[in-house]
Amino acid sequence: MEITKDIRYIGVNDRKIDLFEGQFMVENGMAYNSYAIIDEKIAVFDTVDKNFGGEWLKNLENALDGRQPDYLIVSHMEPDHSANIANFAKKYENAKVVASEKAFVMMKQFFGTDFADRKIAVKEGDTLSLGKHTLTFYTAPMVHWPEVIVTYDSLDKVLFSADAFGKFGTTDTDEDWACEARRYYFGIVGKYGAQANALLKKAGNLDIKTICPLHGPVLSENLDYYLNLYKTWTSYGVETDGVVICYTSVYGGTKAAAELLAEELEKGGCPKVAVNDLARCDMAEAVEDAFRYGKVVLATTTYNAEIFPFMRTFIDELKERNFQNKTVGIIENGTWAPMAEKVIKSEFEKSKNIAFAENSVHIRSVMTDENKEEIKALAKELL
Ligand code: FEO
Repeated sequence: MEITKDIRYIGVNDRKIDLFEGQFMVENGMAYNSYAIIDEKIAVFDTVDKNFGGEWLKNLENALDGRQPDYLIVSHMEPDHSANIANFAKKYENAKVVASEKAFVMMKQFFGTDFADRKIAVKEGDTLSLGKHTLTFYTAPMVHWPEVIVTYDSLDKVLFSADAFGKFGTTDTDEDWACEARRYYFGIVGKYGAQANALLKKAGNLDIKTICPLHGPVLSENLDYYLNLYKTWTSYGVETDGVVICYTSVYGGTKAAAELLAEELEKGGCPKVAVNDLARCDMAEAVEDAFRYGKVVLATTTYNAEIFPFMRTFIDELKERNFQNKTVGIIENGTWAPMAEKVIKSEFEKSKNIAFAENSVHIRSVMTDENKEEIKALAKELL
């Protein structure tokens, strides 16, 4: 596939994968993107997952049209992109390997060699001429590994963005970009908002016409849409006006309260209300919702003098991604010694800019009329 006259897509689609990175459900598979710039010199950007080495090398061979590659540029050492570096190096003995110094340390760990006789270690702002195309390298530490670099091709105005702007799903999946890009971003990169934001600032100084990420589609139209979403995500801003209610329920009492709150919010004109049953939904969907909306309601039972396990996991997932800048409402349930509200509040003690709604809901087994009034008050406050 041609991206520009000189740039080819040589990546692969993985339709067999069950869990991406060992944890994320990917119903529509995954793409491991790779690119080649065909100029006086030929540069290849990244390899692919270990299961697709043969297919990828074939794609590369087709793009080379009988020529030999001069450079393998390694943006990121996570094995979904780096697994075939040694295979490439063996096949193309004269090609140089271009990466950050930290990436070479990782190559030694993964492959037992750092390709010392053919390595080109690059730093921020270093350039490499391929002939007509000049590549400039920028470091992107902790987006989402420390060794990451991105590359800008000033001739075709293309940014090779590593995992940034990536998305779950194969490249031929016809689905909303934002939904699966958001789940990918918050699931995988979310903890490193500050670092991803710093990368966006660097990108802001470049004239970009096309973004070539390591996952998902090549982005070439309406780039402001993608850049603005990334600005919101990386700064933990509010993307969508609305409320997400995340609940756990053992016998349905807490679920009924969560549903009543959703009803009250909708009745009151809340632009969007999302409800997630944490025991049954894809946790990564609930996580992306929590970051997407400005207001999050947590409804849970007290359990073992603590909170219900799925809520505990959910809060851990939020905290480890630097959850911040939100209003949090609480619905607690407890038949005896209720603890949920206290535990939830203490969980977010160290989080930045979390405001708790004044109107909490305190259920003692099943909803009473008084609880219904509490729910109405909470809805009103959130509205
Ligand atoms: Fe797509 Fe961080 O590897």
